[in-house]
Amino acid sequence: MERLQEKIINEGRVLSPSVIKVDSFLNHQIDPILMKEIGEEFARLFADDGITKVLTLESSGIAPAQMTALSLGVPVIFARKRKSLTLRDHLYTSKVHSFTKQEINEISVSKDYLSSEDRVLILDDFLANGQAAKGLIDLVEQAGASVAGLAIVIEKGFQEGGQLLRRQGIRVESLATITSLVNDTITFKKEEAPFV
Ligand code: G4P
Repeated sequence: MERLQEKIINEGRVLSPSVIKVDSFLNHQIDPILMKEIGEEFARLFADDGITKVLTLESSGIAPAQMTALSLGVPVIFARKRKSLTLRDHLYTSKVHSFTKQEINEISVSKDYLSSEDRVLILDDFLANGQAAKGLIDLVEQAGASVAGLAIVIEKGFQEGGQLLRRQGIRVESLATITSLVNDTITFKKEEAPFV
């Protein structure tokens, strides 16, 4: 998605050879027009898949997931990382290990909102090692629902998540795939020229 790549080039800051900061439009301040375009693109890609719910993980997945769900005309559910005051039991839960943050989160979704009838599109802002995606797939499977695929805003192609998931036969659609961040240079898949 060209507009997304331009945004990453113009506003992304390479923090290390493995981490890029995109706080100005995705992880802190949010660009609603870009989120709308992202939602429309995912809705187009998964238009024929009979999606009944979009599932994401708080917090940065919520904005693109909300716009995708709006375009598909279905509800969006965000898995929680912490137990809420009003949501304590009757939960599907899974453990997610974050390599980036070196922490383990127990993620959960109420059993009220996922059922065996559901066909679920899982969406996240980043795909790195695939741990969040694995946890979300686990929640869907616990509900007996089916996974239509994974919608990813930014995939870090040099980390193993995308490969692992695709090898399991899961459809993964990423709108921008970064293949390298070495030397402060952002290189995208399918892009001929790197951008500094
Ligand atoms: P994984 O789920 O693919 O295994 O990824 P990992 O554990 O490495 O990532 C943990 C958190 O860090 C996730 O956010 C993920 O979106 C984010 N992340 C991973 N790589 C990058 C990166 O290069 N840049 C940025 N900006 N974020 C990255 P989170 O903890 O769920 O945070 P949030 O959703 O509350 O913002």
